[in-house]
Amino acid sequence: MSDQSTFDLAKSGTFKMGSHTVKRIGYGAMQLAGPGVFGPPKDRAAAVAVLRAAIEAGVDHIDTSDFYGPHVTNQIIREALHPYSDDLTIVTKVSAKRGPNAEWLPAMSKEELIAAVHDNLRNLGLDVIDIVNFRSMHGIHGPAEGSIEEQVTVLADLQRQGLIRHIGVSNVTPTQIAEARKITEIVCVQNQYNLAHREDDAFIDQLAAEGTAYVPFFPLGGFSPLQSSTLSDVAARLNATPMQVALAWLLQRSPNILLIPGTSSLGHLKENLAAGELKLPEDALSELDGIAGKKAA
Ligand SMILES: NC(=O)c1ccc[n+]([C@@H]2O[C@H](COP(=O)([O-])OP(=O)(O)OC[C@H]3O[C@@H](n4cnc5c(N)ncnc54)[C@H](OP(=O)(O)O)[C@@H]3O)[C@@H](O)[C@H]2O)c1
Repeated sequence: MSDQSTFDLAKSGTFKMGSHTVKRIGYGAMQLAGPGVFGPPKDRAAAVAVLRAAIEAGVDHIDTSDFYGPHVTNQIIREALHPYSDDLTIVTKVSAKRGPNAEWLPAMSKEELIAAVHDNLRNLGLDVIDIVNFRSMHGIHGPAEGSIEEQVTVLADLQRQGLIRHIGVSNVTPTQIAEARKITEIVCVQNQYNLAHREDDAFIDQLAAEGTAYVPFFPLGGFSPLQSSTLSDVAARLNATPMQVALAWLLQRSPNILLIPGTSSLGHLKENLAAGELKLPEDALSELDGIAGKKAA
């Protein structure tokens, strides 16, 4: 790997999502809130510094939600980056709320969705949000069938009012995106996917054929980052870190995949952005495909 500070992020490619063509490596802001994504971070100045470093390094896609903190993450984004550059795409998500003990609870009623969009606008300091993902809470920890028509219709109304530019969906099935597309254009899907969690393989291929961005959440494994001896062996051979290999694998998996790795650390941020210059050879790819017990896609 070359000097991480000189890496040109645009070299890892771009993909159209909503109004902008964004670089394939972005940043997920969830880790900027306190422990358990609840309350303020231990070091707010450090959180601001991570966001500014991401933008300085060329990141033009940030993923967030007003239920991170709640409110805290969006307020830190505003403090660090407002007024935003025209080429920055901020993507948020609605349909959940936090309980008093940090629980993740559904908030999918019309009133709750409208209030959530206004919370995002206020805390981010925006008049219009680039992309709002409807995050289905039919299943809290993974996609579950159930109609999302009512909720996407509410967001489409807010889109017509000019408060939202584009709409995406999260934690959804192929049936649910088909239902949503009857209501409005859907510009991205954000589901859980990584080296070890590959339930969406066929869905990703479908979305790639349709030209729709797929943004995997937990690209590094989320709250329990990926651990595998195969991953560590491949990384050592390529003089990279396991997390860089996990991200490079996603970039090579499909051209419509956009990365939003989350970190509260400047060192990890630089490491993750530099994954864009790592090219995995065929033998490494097939070894890594074995982690999920699957053949190369
Ligand atoms: N739609 C949804 O339902 C949903 C759900 C979850 C997340 N998301 C979005 O997806 C984004 C990414 O997910 P995520 O942040 O939860 O998980 P992730 O990106 O898979 O992993 C983040 C974890 O990995 C650690 N990490 C990051 N870079 C590392 C590195 N180079 N070496 C070692 N450890 C590293 C982080 O700790 P440090 O802070 O110490 O680096 C953190 O614990 C979030 O920010 C959020 O925007 C969406």
